[in-house]
Amino acid sequence: MQFFIDTANLDDIREAAELGILDGVTTNPSLMAKEGISGEKAILQHYRDICEILGPGKDVSAEVISTDYAGMISEGKKLAELHPNIVVKVPMIRDGIKAIAHFSEAEIRTNCTLVFSAGQAILAAKAGATYLSPFVGRVDDITWDGIALIKEIFEIYTGQGYETAILAASIRTPLHIVQAAKAGADVVTCPLSAILGLLNHPLTDIGLAKFLSDHKKSNG
Ligand code: G3P
Repeated sequence: MQFFIDTANLDDIREAAELGILDGVTTNPSLMAKEGISGEKAILQHYRDICEILGPGKDVSAEVISTDYAGMISEGKKLAELHPNIVVKVPMIRDGIKAIAHFSEAEIRTNCTLVFSAGQAILAAKAGATYLSPFVGRVDDITWDGIALIKEIFEIYTGQGYETAILAASIRTPLHIVQAAKAGADVVTCPLSAILGLLNHPLTDIGLAKFLSDHKKSNG
């Protein structure tokens, strides 16, 4: 399973990249706004900066703002031309599906976002999306089961031989990461805190303290 970080914060992206386990970055308009990035020029430069931090072969999802077909095509082309790492993120709406089908023909990679049902997942795969982003945490927020949705999509994609990668999004905790891996997600995207949370185990801390104190006792 690949690890993406879900942020537009350059420090967090650098920290995750330095861990040596980062495969990509996802952003969205809310995450860009949180970093105070506004205006087309600054937004495009920020995407370039993210791509440069990651280096070659790592995907960076950049989301279109338009909700009409023509607007999405023109924005998506501009984003795709920015850097080879860019994946155009397109919302799961009628014109979004049309745009994904167009980008697929044009060999521009896409990430279909705001996915909340298996039916939407089927449409996105039919349109040729590179990635599908079901929002696990937001499904949990309404007391449905986000991980069950990942399992359902995995079953369908495996049975049908769809090539779209399942990118479990709105992943918020280390437990979500483990559950997404068990459910068959190809990728998880999550905040740095969730990735770092995977490190924690009290027995590791206790064991390491004992190893070091035993070493000190016998080596002075
Ligand atoms: O990848 C989608 C993500 O940014 C949404 O996460 O926590 O706002 O539901 P969240």
